[in-house]
Amino acid sequence: MKNYKVAVLAGDGIGPEITQEAIKVLKLVEERNDVSFELMPALFGACAYFETGDAFPLETKEICDSADAILKGPIGLSHEESKNIPVDKQPERGALLPMRRRYNTYANFRPVSLPKALAHFSPLKPEIIGDGIDLVIVRELVGGLYFGEKETGVNEKGLRYVRETLEYDEGQIRQILVQAFKLAQTRKKVLHNIHKSNVLKSSVLWNEILEEVATDYQDVKVINILVDAAATLLCLKPTQFDVMVMENMFGDILSDQGGGILGSLGLMPSACIGDEKAYYEPSHGSAPDIAGKNMANPYSMIGSVAMMLENSFDMADEAKNVWAAMQGVFADGYSTADLSKSDSGVKMIGTEEFGDKVVEKLRDMPKV
Ligand code: IPM
Ligand code: MG
Repeated sequence: MKNYKVAVLAGDGIGPEITQEAIKVLKLVEERNDVSFELMPALFGACAYFETGDAFPLETKEICDSADAILKGPIGLSHEESKNIPVDKQPERGALLPMRRRYNTYANFRPVSLPKALAHFSPLKPEIIGDGIDLVIVRELVGGLYFGEKETGVNEKGLRYVRETLEYDEGQIRQILVQAFKLAQTRKKVLHNIHKSNVLKSSVLWNEILEEVATDYQDVKVINILVDAAATLLCLKPTQFDVMVMENMFGDILSDQGGGILGSLGLMPSACIGDEKAYYEPSHGSAPDIAGKNMANPYSMIGSVAMMLENSFDMADEAKNVWAAMQGVFADGYSTADLSKSDSGVKMIGTEEFGDKVVEKLRDMPKV
């Protein structure tokens, strides 16, 4: 039997309640397969800061270091509450970015997927959704503006100023592009390269490296699109995309738009992969306004489990079952509050009910 250690960082806001549902699914996967998961819970985010003074405490680092994979819930506080934590210790700067840097998880995969049967969740017209949306945003995750040098001060004119630098070297660019090409090869063999080379020198270098890397993947067709145009096309014709690759900041913004065209960020799981370690997290925040109300949609967290099964534990077939179980619950006419209005004829269910129904569906599926 395979035995894996999974660090579980439930996070802040809705994190703990959606993590609980993801764990239910993971336990069932354990029951159905010749595998065992040793779950190692640890504090991460604002909860860790308030308990230890550090949003990514040493003990959590040690637990993550020893884990085969990390399952991470959303972190962060409301805009107002954040002010109770010094800027550099806030969960995003004090925990999330250090985690990405520590494990060099440079490749962030964000599937944007909505089967035709669930088209009613999308704000887009059915004719735009067609046979369904199914694309993956490949986002560079450890470079660019997020990690460049930052400086603040007062300039010669006596004005407060800020300088943030966008830096990539060719190695960083090449490694993410290779991941994107490889993914494109397993899918439709089309890669949309999202850039801003009409303004940014970083995009000029990016595109140069892309041309070099492309020679090793001649079966993949490359389509270059400026990032602003890509934002429009994601709304007007999302079905033309399959794999989209881009730098860190572009990926942050367009992946949230990805959630928008599906109908909710609650449908956005993600995998953050480095050469030695991977962690899995919803793309969305901790939604403090609905925390503890059994309202949050755990799809993104359970989807992150599915991505972990596939990428870290070589369980692609069981991962497909988890996706199918979640989509099956929606296809049965149920909805969580983020996706539908209560008077829209759907059967509204809460966080726990969604998790229970996914478990029920998965239990009924043939074992792999
Ligand atoms: C995301 C989030 C993070 C990011 C925040 C929480 C720092 O928005 O994973 O997309 O900007 O990368
Ligand atoms: Mg984001």
